[in-house]
Amino acid sequence: MTLAWLTDIHLNFLRPDERAHFISELATADFDHLVITGDIGEAPTVATYLEQIYYSIRRPLSFVLGNHDYYLASVDETRTDIKALTDRSLPITYLGEGSVVSLSSTCALVGHDGWADGRFGDYVASPILLSDYLLIEDFQPSSRDGSRLSDAAKQERHRIMTDLANDCATALEVSLAEAAVDYQTIVVATHVPPFEEACWYKGKTPHPLMLPHLGCGATGDVIRAAALGHPNRRFIVLCGHTHWAGTVEIEPNLTVITGGARYRHPALQESLELD
Ligand SMILES: [Fe+2]
Ligand SMILES: [Fe+2]
Repeated sequence: MTLAWLTDIHLNFLRPDERAHFISELATADFDHLVITGDIGEAPTVATYLEQIYYSIRRPLSFVLGNHDYYLASVDETRTDIKALTDRSLPITYLGEGSVVSLSSTCALVGHDGWADGRFGDYVASPILLSDYLLIEDFQPSSRDGSRLSDAAKQERHRIMTDLANDCATALEVSLAEAAVDYQTIVVATHVPPFEEACWYKGKTPHPLMLPHLGCGATGDVIRAAALGHPNRRFIVLCGHTHWAGTVEIEPNLTVITGGARYRHPALQESLELD
């Protein structure tokens, strides 16, 4: 079977005619199942874009959400909107709900968003303020006053980032274990690269002050544990978020492919031919 992959398409940055053209062109590609690893739009638009993509391709669609998909709402509100979409008996699956999607008799797809959790690089010293902290409601209390870089504000954001990442990892651990029972190959879709080595940026390792905002140590821990615990299974992780492409082998049976992306120029990543 052929698994097509999109990441970081940021459709909200396109004009309506450009967006419609991209979505209609997807239908001409040759694949059996489409997976999207987040940063699809923003909270008010992401469910609509997913529905439009499905009605264009008319093939099963699985996805996780990226940090941008939560912009202009809270995490809970966004996931509630997504649940309304996935409850509609269409073959549209939000992998963050814990699904193990059977791609073939030997290959399964699982995943979760992941969240940059400050585990890589030097979070304490990092002066970087992502738009996440202003545009996602959960972070706004730590970003309202004039001291956004105070120790207290950074600690509060770190707690929120860690909680979001750990929630993803806890759910992912369950679906990984379930998939490993029956399937030889397990594709893991996630937005945030789960290993420091997969945080490609301009073709090299990012600066230690950027890394805390690019990788998710919590999901990396459970993915590595699954690979080490099932040496006869093959794990392929698809992720995005950094917008720079690269592939790294973390363990002999664990490969992480990070997708490249350009704002306003969405494009299919490589298609995976799976048994
Ligand atoms: Fe992105
Ligand atoms: Fe992102």
